[in-house]
Amino acid sequence: MSGDIAVTDDGAVHVIRMNRPAKKNALTLAMYGGLTQALQDADQTEAIRCSLIAGVPGAFCAGNDITDFLQASSGGLDTRAHGFLHALAGRRKPLVAAVDGVAVGVGTTMLLHCDHVVVSTASTLSTPFIKLGLIPEAASTMLAPMRMGYARAFSLLAMGRPLSAAEAKDAGIVNTVVDSSEVEAVALAAAREIAALPPHALAVTRGLMRGQTDEILKRIDQESAHFRDLLQSDEARTAFMAFLARKK
Ligand code: COA
Repeated sequence: MSGDIAVTDDGAVHVIRMNRPAKKNALTLAMYGGLTQALQDADQTEAIRCSLIAGVPGAFCAGNDITDFLQASSGGLDTRAHGFLHALAGRRKPLVAAVDGVAVGVGTTMLLHCDHVVVSTASTLSTPFIKLGLIPEAASTMLAPMRMGYARAFSLLAMGRPLSAAEAKDAGIVNTVVDSSEVEAVALAAAREIAALPPHALAVTRGLMRGQTDEILKRIDQESAHFRDLLQSDEARTAFMAFLARKK
């Protein structure tokens, strides 16, 4: 597992931490591999009833590492990010998110797959895919309009307008907004509450509530096909280089 993904167990809760603070938890390919492994381990371990995904103070996840995007724009196909999206959508156990600070790109779209989301007042959710010459992924083109309505989904996904914590709660994709100092404790309490539920009844209920996983996986694959094409485009490459060369 990547050193930038740390996994610990808190009783029946599998705590998965993205831990690359120097890069605001931008996800490398190795980190995607670690996240996939952690979700699969949770599914395969009977004693684990719920997973919790968290970042570091001020950075839940800054999205895909843009250096990796640039490499992918001229290099071969690596399936680790795609594998993570499949593991995220297809997992059997509930997932709670504890979000503090930036949640960009996949840092936001992964929340649409979570069963319970706690964010701090200092959080901002954004998906600047189109500004990077890409398209939204993780089946967000299906899940976002379904979860928050087309108007809000278009503003977030297409126009790239960020959501504050309060707006995300109002849009129905966040359960609870708390102070940064409380976000992990509140999320862990929710994960423990879920972990204490009768697992079979919960699994059946959750399966019925989430609908057809096949449809979600199919949309992930459709988006990925476009995404791979767009990664090779001049406009995407120019946007990646502009980010990496920016002056602070
Ligand atoms: N890929 C690669 N590096 C990233 C990154 C990403 N997605 N996001 C942040 N970083 C790096 C920065 O380059 C910087 O590295 P450096 O210190 O070596 O220069 C470090 O993380 C800290 O980021 P910085 O921009 O200084 O922090 P900030 O608090 O001012 O801004 C963000 C944080 C997340 C808003 C900003 O970094 C950003 O917009 N990142 C890109 C997000 C993005 O577009 N992701 C892809 C989504 S599809």
